[in-house]
Amino acid sequence: MKSEISRAWWKEGVLYQIYPQSFKDSDGDGFGDFQGVIQELDYLESLGISMVWMNPFFESPMVDNGYDVSDYRAINPRYGTMEDFDAMIAGMKKRGIKFVLDVVVNHSSDQHKWFQSARSSRDSEYRDYYHWWPAEKGKPPHRHSLFDPEGGWDYVEESDSYYLHTFAEAQPDLNWENPKLRQEVYDIMKFWAKKGVDGFRMDAFQFASKDTTYPVFPEGHEKDFIKWYGMRPQLHDYLKEMYKEVMEPYNVFAVAEGAGSTLQDAHDLVDEARKELQTAYHFEYVDMSRTPEGYKLTDFKNVFTKWDEAFAEEGWLAVFLSNHDNARLVDRFGNPSPEFRRVSTQMLNTFLLSMRGTPYTYYGDELGMTNIDMPTIEEYVDIHAIGKYKTVLAKNEDMDEFMKVLNYSSRENARTPMQWDDTENAGFTTGTPWKKVNPNYKEINVASQDKNPNSVLNHFRNMVKLRNEHEVFVYGAYQLLDRENEETYAFLRTLDDKKVLVLLNFTNHDSALELPELKQINKTLISNYEDLNNANGKITLKPYQAVILSIN
Ligand code: NOJ
Repeated sequence: MKSEISRAWWKEGVLYQIYPQSFKDSDGDGFGDFQGVIQELDYLESLGISMVWMNPFFESPMVDNGYDVSDYRAINPRYGTMEDFDAMIAGMKKRGIKFVLDVVVNHSSDQHKWFQSARSSRDSEYRDYYHWWPAEKGKPPHRHSLFDPEGGWDYVEESDSYYLHTFAEAQPDLNWENPKLRQEVYDIMKFWAKKGVDGFRMDAFQFASKDTTYPVFPEGHEKDFIKWYGMRPQLHDYLKEMYKEVMEPYNVFAVAEGAGSTLQDAHDLVDEARKELQTAYHFEYVDMSRTPEGYKLTDFKNVFTKWDEAFAEEGWLAVFLSNHDNARLVDRFGNPSPEFRRVSTQMLNTFLLSMRGTPYTYYGDELGMTNIDMPTIEEYVDIHAIGKYKTVLAKNEDMDEFMKVLNYSSRENARTPMQWDDTENAGFTTGTPWKKVNPNYKEINVASQDKNPNSVLNHFRNMVKLRNEHEVFVYGAYQLLDRENEETYAFLRTLDDKKVLVLLNFTNHDSALELPELKQINKTLISNYEDLNNANGKITLKPYQAVILSIN
């Protein structure tokens, strides 16, 4: 089958996400920095990845680790200088790696000069950069906030009014209905595009456009938060405008965080002919496996298959299994026990890198870095975790259960320092790391895996190479096989006369399966076990075995 999907560089490569605070510290202050990334450019190249997305590094009071920007054109000194930034992306370019910038413009920091001025007076020239509810109208109707248990409006005395914040109190929402604000944002994006940035990740962008009558929403609406607070029709006009102003003239792409609440929303964001965004990532499978009870493989398959089918003809998605907002990949979808950590991470990486859609891999997942144990609230610094804790406390809910789930699912699990070697602090810093290093760094680290041909790291490199060498993994059609199988995920990728079969055992025991395609095997392209137990259309996969076969 020939895919009609148009070709583009941002569809073809593998993206690697760097959480700058935790990647590599060059000056011993305990925080990762640009010079640290520069020291590891050869490592990035060795992975075979072709894009880096870095979480925000702009000037910020760091209430939400940089997702609260106080100056969009300045670098937070913690990470270095603008010269360091320039050197870092020049080094990436030299190695064929493009750079994706995180654009946080649903909201700014409350310390941004726009907000400082806007809050001080109703006559401020920046007043309409934000959303206001004048106090003489009484209290605004309740609005849910994702981070603030008290709700999404906060009062400021100076101008006797309430301002809106979808996230924390320190993250006031920008008013996209204001053309002046939109122009400011495009100017900021142009500033970075001129510096050589190749793509933008639009943070929380589905919430950018608001109903500015701020209506009373029905009881329980926060369960379907995006439908009520996001995806207003005007959003599409703004994206079209952004496309004309930024994406088209600078030849850059943009990926949306979130894809609306329906498949139609997702298409409306990314279909090529609409000239809005180029790609998006959805959250449906992220919502799976939020508790230690885990998930059902058939649900996992169905979600991926549903989204793939919806995008088979038009539009393009990014695929990810973890990032800075989720627990570690192997803990959520694999098996972090010492016995199975290696093979189950390899299996998940095989899935990620053989699926249709641009793979987004998160730093440390190429090693099988795991969750960290944080049983008490005192250890948490994340505003999201602390906000949730306060809500449970106020509602007198089951705190033991909450802490158990938090320990398993908190995004702080995925923010521990990168494990480079087995020296103190895993070679991340010579100082005191801002966040405790996972004690398993002596076993899980780059230096030891680099030398081992069977390591998670080398398997990751081999998988990236395979994907880079065979277009079938990028543009080939996807077809699910054996849908009801609760143990093994089997699918085909087909492009013209090239056909590959991907088999993934998601269990910790042997799993047998029978498929007609197994009678047409040409050769094994990759496997995380040496032998392949295959005879006459039947195969028995070892625990977490992942194998890709080329089919005649
Ligand atoms: C989504 C980001 O990924 C997350 O880390 C952040 O806290 C919120 N948006 C608010 O910007």
